[in-house]
Amino acid sequence: MCGVVAVLGKENASQLVIEGLKKLEYRGYDSAGITSVSQGLLQTIKSEGKLLNLIGKLDKSTKEKLYFDNSIALGHTRWATHGNVSFENAHPLTSENKIAVVHNGIIENFEILKKELISLGYNFRSMTDTEVLPHLFMKYIKMGNDLLEAGRLVLKDIKGAFAFVAMSVDFPNQLFVSRNSSPLAIGLGDNANFIGSDAHSIDHLTQKIIYLEDGDHALVKINKISIFDKNFKKVSRKIINIQAEIGLITKGGYKHFMEKEIFEQPVVLPQTTSSFIKNNSEITIDLDKLGFKNKNSLIICAAGTSYYAGIVGKYWIEQIADIPVIVDLASEYRYRKPSIFGQNSILVISQSGESLDTLMALRYAKELGLKTNAIVNVEGSTIDREVDYSLYSKVGPEIGVASTKSFTSQLVILFLIAVSLGKKFNSLTLTQMRKKCQLINMLPSAIAKMLEKENQIKLIAQNIKNSKSVIFLGRGLLYPLALEGALKLKEISYIHAEGFAAGEMKHGPIALIEDDVPVIMFLVSDGNEDKAISNLQEAYSRGAKIILIADKKCIDKATFAHFTVEIAEFENEFKSLLSPLLMSVPAQLLAYHVAKERGTDVDQPRNLAKSVTVE
Ligand code: M6R
Repeated sequence: MCGVVAVLGKENASQLVIEGLKKLEYRGYDSAGITSVSQGLLQTIKSEGKLLNLIGKLDKSTKEKLYFDNSIALGHTRWATHGNVSFENAHPLTSENKIAVVHNGIIENFEILKKELISLGYNFRSMTDTEVLPHLFMKYIKMGNDLLEAGRLVLKDIKGAFAFVAMSVDFPNQLFVSRNSSPLAIGLGDNANFIGSDAHSIDHLTQKIIYLEDGDHALVKINKISIFDKNFKKVSRKIINIQAEIGLITKGGYKHFMEKEIFEQPVVLPQTTSSFIKNNSEITIDLDKLGFKNKNSLIICAAGTSYYAGIVGKYWIEQIADIPVIVDLASEYRYRKPSIFGQNSILVISQSGESLDTLMALRYAKELGLKTNAIVNVEGSTIDREVDYSLYSKVGPEIGVASTKSFTSQLVILFLIAVSLGKKFNSLTLTQMRKKCQLINMLPSAIAKMLEKENQIKLIAQNIKNSKSVIFLGRGLLYPLALEGALKLKEISYIHAEGFAAGEMKHGPIALIEDDVPVIMFLVSDGNEDKAISNLQEAYSRGAKIILIADKKCIDKATFAHFTVEIAEFENEFKSLLSPLLMSVPAQLLAYHVAKERGTDVDQPRNLAKSVTVE
């Protein structure tokens, strides 16, 4: 999604902004731009595609001395919403070359505002919703307002979710910033201040950060930051000291961040478990805070991969703790007028802590009177700051757009919630609870064993890389894994893929089977494997190319499979209960190797963003 960086009061501000934008690259974008002020004039450079294109243009202009001695600059990476990917639609957007604005989010009432501005003579050069912002600033400044007053009038005009930064040549060394639902951080320096879409984008400049709260706006000067809330009342916001995340931009010798993140799971997942299990078997999740003083049902909301983690969580919580769970897509939740009968709390799941759909679901649940909890990886993110209680994934920054280690860490936390609830509400004895903790403590070494299958997965990847469509099947706890396997494959390889509950095939999807369509099943012998194998057989009989990643017992039964990968032998309870965690690894490796074979941009796949901050 769009990223915003601004620097005020430091020499070579443009270069510093570019450094910040590089740190936002992982979020996904399709064009970029930067504006600084030189000799009283706005200087804007923009380009389609990756930052390298922008840097090339900036270097050229620096040689031509356009950008020397600038101490104010703002920059942007754009993920197209309104208007295609083009030079004109890239930010910063300007008005009369005196005002420049960068913006993340959507101005929902832009069409009405645009009409009015056109009638006043303003000339629109882009197809974006954003362009109304610089023109509105221009309109109000021409009426005699200073930057702060003009910004406030703009805020009164606009509706939507946004974070934006505006600068004007008429008010040198000032920036107007505002946020509503989209994240924005202000960094404090010595005789300098900085703005970024997240703290990390400016942690090369300062470790002192203020997160604006929703509805806040601020006037940022070199030596002074004045912050106001949504009622325009002056407020002070907490200064937080952050640590620069040095490891973030290194791939640690791997070709892609995704590959690194898959392979570091045996090392980072113990960070998740150890923050919730003390003395090997005491789970420290606070069930009262989670909304379980008494036994009631739970609603889980999330998007994408985090949603699939939620489905696995539902299966575990219902199976282990006998507590009913509803899992909803965050983007649907608040628009479908859900019943909260029997519920006391909502649990949202979000790696980034910034997905706007999930944030909105959370806010809606709050309005309905539910307690709010989250599983998040990014501490200090908007969701983390807004919920009553956060459970942290603790797996470190995830840069690849495809969720990998964050998915498995979410599963670990959901499993521990299920076990903890099972103990509290007497579905599990103390001994059974301890046994389950032992199982989860065995996970890192089991994942390491799953990673050893990489070469066999590579062979399958080579075989299916030219397929038009791939089908993933799963039953029980491995049904959500079929959904996740398909999502992973389609998002980074661009091959059409669908996941189905294996038993549902005969109710429609089996019509998709034709010669050589790969049908992939992850399976472990859990007493119910025969049903799944029958479903696979039905696909085989219609010409599908059968790929089975399973334990020996299942592979011995499915003799008809074209490709098999036999996983290591694990204890029965471990392999059946934790099968979604084990099988995440081949699902991730398969998607990764197919994408690599096809030469796609694995870490920043087309059209996608790491933090999805629009609804
Ligand atoms: O940061 P979140 O967990 O809230 O993100 C939700 C989805 O956007 C995310 O899981 C997405 O589906 C991933 N790219 C999948 O790999």
